[in-house]
Amino acid sequence: MTQQAPRVAIVTGAARGIGAGVARRLAQDGFAVAVLDLDEDACKPVVAEIEAAGGKALAVGCNVADEQAVEAAVERVATELGPPVVLVNNAGIIRDNMLFKMSTDDWDSVMNVHLRGSFLMSRAAQKYMTEARWGRIVNLSSTSALGNRGQANYAAAKAGLQGFTKTLAIELGKFGVTVNAVAPGFIETEMTAATAARVGVPFEDFKKAAAEATAVKRTGRPEDIAHAVSFFVSEGAGFVTGQVIYVAGMPKA
Ligand code: CAA
Repeated sequence: MTQQAPRVAIVTGAARGIGAGVARRLAQDGFAVAVLDLDEDACKPVVAEIEAAGGKALAVGCNVADEQAVEAAVERVATELGPPVVLVNNAGIIRDNMLFKMSTDDWDSVMNVHLRGSFLMSRAAQKYMTEARWGRIVNLSSTSALGNRGQANYAAAKAGLQGFTKTLAIELGKFGVTVNAVAPGFIETEMTAATAARVGVPFEDFKKAAAEATAVKRTGRPEDIAHAVSFFVSEGAGFVTGQVIYVAGMPKA
């Protein structure tokens, strides 16, 4: 009996945080995973972990906002792992500031990574999905899409990703490709730890306040987000598309 090659997934921003959690989970689910982030070396510990657990993974260094780099990275994944039929657009940065103090560079960098990055990655990967007549794209939005003080840039980008998701779902559906979004609330990562440090609050206190503001009285972990992504990319979720699922423990409005 010949064994079928595993389906190939690309996860952007996968060297740490939510992206690393998603990469680990998709490897457990049986995907060969391209662990993509700005610095290839930073991806290697996640790749090593996946391999140690018996999975298949590849470290890929790529700035998702750079058109040539994206084209080359997706092609490399296709050559070295196989045609990518799952894409998780997770790469993201924050440059929080009040509107009157927000620099044009802080606006542009956030738009470039989240929106331009997701556009370039999706455009490069979709051809493998439409050829295979099967594909899954999951975009990482955020509860910040609904508005968050100090995040005009990030909120606009995360809301933009929801429109992007629904439009790709309409365009790609007939090729067997679903496109959905996961919108995390407060997740314990280096990003939220850095925010706590920046605003001068101990991370434990910051997490406590965030947990209090939810119905489930806890903060989220990368695994919580990975679980939702795992559902969206699963074989059985082929009739679920254009959706945004908030994985946030129901925060107070
Ligand atoms: N013109 C002039 N003054 C103005 C103004 C305007 N248009 N708008 C506001 N101001 C004034 C205010 O009145 C205030 O003045 P006073 O202090 O004299 O009252 C001042 O500007 C702003 O003061 P703050 O101390 O409130 O603001 P700050 O600049 O120190 O920081 C902040 C505000 C950027 C929101 C900062 O607190 C912050 O970064 N908070 C964290 C934001 C956050 O939640 N980030 C989430 C990160 S995690 C994540 O993003 C993951 C995810 O997906 C959920």
